[in-house]
Amino acid sequence: MRRLRLQDAWLTLLLGAALGLLLYTQRDRAAPTTRAPRVQGRQAPRPAPGRRALPVPDVGADPPSYEGGTPAPPTLPGPFDFGRYLRAKDQRRFPLLINQPHKCRSDGARGGQPDLLIAVKSVASDFERREAVRQTWGAEGRKQGALVRRVFLLGVPRGAGPDEAGTQTHWRALLAAESRAYADILLWAFEDTFFNLTLKEIHFLAWASAFCPDVRFVFKGDADVFVHVRNLLQFLKLRDPAQDLLAGDVIVQARPIRLRTSKYYIPEAVYGLHAYPAYAGGGGFVLSGATLRRLAEACSQVELFPIDDVFLGMCLQRLRLTPEPHPAFRTFGISQPSAAPHLHTFDPCFYRELVVVHGLSAADIWLMWRLLYGPQGPVCAHPQPVAAGPFQWDS
Ligand SMILES: *[C@@H]1O[C@H](CO)[C@@H](O)[C@H](O)[C@H]1NC(C)=O
Repeated sequence: MRRLRLQDAWLTLLLGAALGLLLYTQRDRAAPTTRAPRVQGRQAPRPAPGRRALPVPDVGADPPSYEGGTPAPPTLPGPFDFGRYLRAKDQRRFPLLINQPHKCRSDGARGGQPDLLIAVKSVASDFERREAVRQTWGAEGRKQGALVRRVFLLGVPRGAGPDEAGTQTHWRALLAAESRAYADILLWAFEDTFFNLTLKEIHFLAWASAFCPDVRFVFKGDADVFVHVRNLLQFLKLRDPAQDLLAGDVIVQARPIRLRTSKYYIPEAVYGLHAYPAYAGGGGFVLSGATLRRLAEACSQVELFPIDDVFLGMCLQRLRLTPEPHPAFRTFGISQPSAAPHLHTFDPCFYRELVVVHGLSAADIWLMWRLLYGPQGPVCAHPQPVAAGPFQWDS
């Protein structure tokens, strides 16, 4: 009898402990400031979107996973040193090591102010994807009557500073050769890390307003996106470059992530408000020439913030501009199209109506381009991308 009681007591204790543990883990998960971040392939969780400004068509459950393999700007090992970031924040001007001063000059060999300047964030080692972009959606020249120009935005690869002799000359020589071959490399003297993407943003805005003062529109994005340039130009045809415009995958009321282990962790001391201003996902957005010049000025007044697209949202807020949501910009990844669940990224019918899709490998970009613009033309004849039945390789 007594033994039984003892056993009961033990069991109760054990159950109590288990319950406590369960509640503890649930508490963490239900913390109101953070949301379980979506993981999209090699893309890390983004600040939790509160609510999208426009409902995007629900095309399935889980976002597809992509084989990455190509380098993104590295994050520093260990926790991010906010103290150091805040102390170094005033140093925000770095020299341009490789310039393309004639990119937009009308006296240049290929003449005229571009209608669309494509600016792609890249890192030195990602030659393969730059090559894919150059030969697919980022190709320069006339498209539907519009003059398109391209630049890649780079910083100094991490660990290749002047103190590490040997490696430095190597990548510098390679980039110099690449720049001679394609005239599309912009290289600044800051370290190319994830948290320095904000520096990349302000340096690009300053560069573009200085060297491309009359550009009509600018598309800025990552190297792992696919851009349907034809759709983009169609959209821009109706817009006035002298008016303000910044359109993309707009996130409103995103809450800062207070989870220390997240790549996007922001302590309250750095950003105290409960939500970020509306911003367009940095994977790809388009802006008018007028907005470019105003943003370059506004951003130079805004304190640096380590997440580049949120930072740009802060500059927009300063101008009292709201980014325009465009449902065809999918910078936060796409869900699997329900009509072709086994194919996800490789359904051109699905891509037909989109402008920007994020998270592609160099091979994905090539293949999508071939399928959309290949000798047979678009494989998919139906106007409705998702309803168009499973895509077949031999069709
Ligand atoms: C940004 O670049 C500067 C200059 O190269 C470097 O000193 C700094 O550590 C970098 N900051 C981050 C957060 O990576």
